[in-house]
Amino acid sequence: MKTLPHDLRAVAGQFAIVGDYLAAEPYGSGHINDTYASIFDQGGTRVRYIHQRINANVFKQPALVMENVERVLRHVHAKLTAAGVAERHRRCLTLIPTRSGAAFYRDPRGNYWRTYVFIEKAATYDVIASPAMARAAARAFGRFQQLLADLPAPRLHDTIPDFHHTPRRFAVLEQALARDAANRAARAKAEIDFALQRRTLTQTLIRDYEQGLIPERIAHNDTKLNNVMIDDATQEGICVIDLDTVMPGLAHYDFGDMVRTATRSGAEDEPDLSRIVFQADMFDALAQGYLETAGGFLTPAETDRLAVSGPLITFEIGIRFLADYLVGDVYFKTHRPDHNLDRCRTQFKMVAEMERCRDAMEAMVRRHAGSGS
Ligand SMILES: Nc1ncnc2c1ncn2[C@@H]1O[C@H](COP(=O)(O)OP(=O)(O)OP(=O)(O)O)[C@@H](O)[C@H]1O
Ligand SMILES: [Mg+2]
Repeated sequence: MKTLPHDLRAVAGQFAIVGDYLAAEPYGSGHINDTYASIFDQGGTRVRYIHQRINANVFKQPALVMENVERVLRHVHAKLTAAGVAERHRRCLTLIPTRSGAAFYRDPRGNYWRTYVFIEKAATYDVIASPAMARAAARAFGRFQQLLADLPAPRLHDTIPDFHHTPRRFAVLEQALARDAANRAARAKAEIDFALQRRTLTQTLIRDYEQGLIPERIAHNDTKLNNVMIDDATQEGICVIDLDTVMPGLAHYDFGDMVRTATRSGAEDEPDLSRIVFQADMFDALAQGYLETAGGFLTPAETDRLAVSGPLITFEIGIRFLADYLVGDVYFKTHRPDHNLDRCRTQFKMVAEMERCRDAMEAMVRRHAGSGS
């Protein structure tokens, strides 16, 4: 048996789990936290748990992250209970408290750990296999937002301030460009021009929010396909996971990031741009799935702006890659020269594609909004 970098028996022993610890192993393909699955014997039945070490480099205040996660889960569980929903512990993550009743355990080395009930008979997928899967994931994220639309005050913590403040992201790009610290601006001239021509795009949504036209919501903020558990039997998106970035935001951040990640034909860092095309059938499936659940609470003004959130969030991530390229690859890990520039190019190609398909996207949103939920 391989030795693990952490003593999982000791970690698991801190949590209020009944039964005998049998084993643990690294689990899943997450990039941020360290995830392990353990097996316990509970009176002759094998039961699994998920243990996660929170990445304290990314989340500077893990205790605040856990406060958000705890409140969100308590609220969702209460609503599912009130509605008499079956299989509540497969439809919502469940935190196992420590033996002293806390939401997380801090080990002697300062690592933060949490434990969840293992959601069985469901899986996460790294690649979207079909529009049906995109629709299932979008339904799940829409339902997640809907369940949190009435979370009582106080506001959740802003664990990553200005996460989607596009004008501030643009200002960072302009600073990087002015300094040109890695002497790369000449190599990225076409991308810099593309970005500078779209300065006004950065005001979309933020301006509407500041003018009170669209409300603050609770957003998941990491709406990749592999953050939804898909039920093995029904293929339904049964549970939204990975809640570290849940915080106040706009509903559009989640829809826009789904569009960014699910409608692109190739890899995020594909150097051959002819392979990067916008897949309209995926967009249609996302709009359909999302509106089936989120349609119940979105205002008409929010629905009106769904289509534009795709190119906006894609542009935002593109300028972040570009800025990081210009400062010399400080934030995003790179594995080859020009890696961040390649990533920027795929985003900008998608922005251009979506600008071309704007009317079609608007029409699809209207059609699914019109069919009601
Ligand atoms: N409660 C659970 N039950 C079953 N599997 C789970 C559970 N929680 C997480 N997983 C699995 O572990 C993987 C990693 O979990 P998670 O997404 O929380 O980690 P992460 O490191 O934050 O990921 P990311 O790279 O998406 O930020 C998931 O994709 C899923 O396959
Ligand atoms: Mg994840």
